[in-house]
Amino acid sequence: MNAVIPAAGYGTRFLPATKAVPKEMLPIGNKPAIQLIVEEAVAAGAERVVIVTSPDKPALRRHFEPDAVWHERLKNKPEADAEMFRIEELAKRISFVDQLQQRGLGHAVLQAEPALRGDKTPVLVLLGDALVDGSEPCACELARTADEVAPDASWVGLERVPMERVSRYGVITGDQIGANGRVYRVSGLVEKPSPEEAPSDLAIAGRYLLQPVIFDYLSTQIPGKGGEIQLTDAIMRSLEITGVFGFRYSGKRHDIGNPQGYLTALTSINPTILNS
Ligand code: G1P
Repeated sequence: MNAVIPAAGYGTRFLPATKAVPKEMLPIGNKPAIQLIVEEAVAAGAERVVIVTSPDKPALRRHFEPDAVWHERLKNKPEADAEMFRIEELAKRISFVDQLQQRGLGHAVLQAEPALRGDKTPVLVLLGDALVDGSEPCACELARTADEVAPDASWVGLERVPMERVSRYGVITGDQIGANGRVYRVSGLVEKPSPEEAPSDLAIAGRYLLQPVIFDYLSTQIPGKGGEIQLTDAIMRSLEITGVFGFRYSGKRHDIGNPQGYLTALTSINPTILNS
């Protein structure tokens, strides 16, 4: 599979920290959040990783660039230099594309299409501000479940949220299937409904595994909620063609795009995530 990481947002919820440092570069232990997310994608089997960013955020590209100056500086410190080599290994799979206008999550994902053109493998989408802590990396658990249940369908990662918070999320209608109580056959998706309109408390939560036909739907997607091109709407339109399933993953998601969620992540995340 391939992976797309939307990371073009300005991080306004996190100002002033994000004035000069992109929110994806804020550290979780010794690694910037974006590196943990790339590592999760690679652990799940992503061969190519497209990071959708903005020319205003050069630090993301800079982080993954090979750097002879650092190697020279660390020539007597092999352990530290190993971290540099580790980044370079990841970087072999990474390409960057820019989203020049902020037109919504669906529009951001669509920007990755030229970099993946012609590839018929599923697309793992990992939101740059969602870090998931669990015994198995979230994308691995999602990909494994998809493989076991319906490898030809599109999948959304789910989390139960209190009804008063559903209006912050995409929400699904679905029937639970299978023995473990975590898999749902999805019959509808709606972006940011009011609690009164929401069909359930099952929110789409930062991870997707989509069939590549999603790019066709995104390229003709009209703006939806908030005047933005919504990924949720394009998945809804593809439902009849690919089938859509939901997976209520077992890890705990941290919204590291706001200071409170970031602090909670720092204090509660399992340190083994840093050694993956
Ligand atoms: C996006 C998606 C939404 C999803 C949410 C959390 O919204 O559009 O469907 O539930 O991420 O993963 P955003 O938080 O970017 O407004």
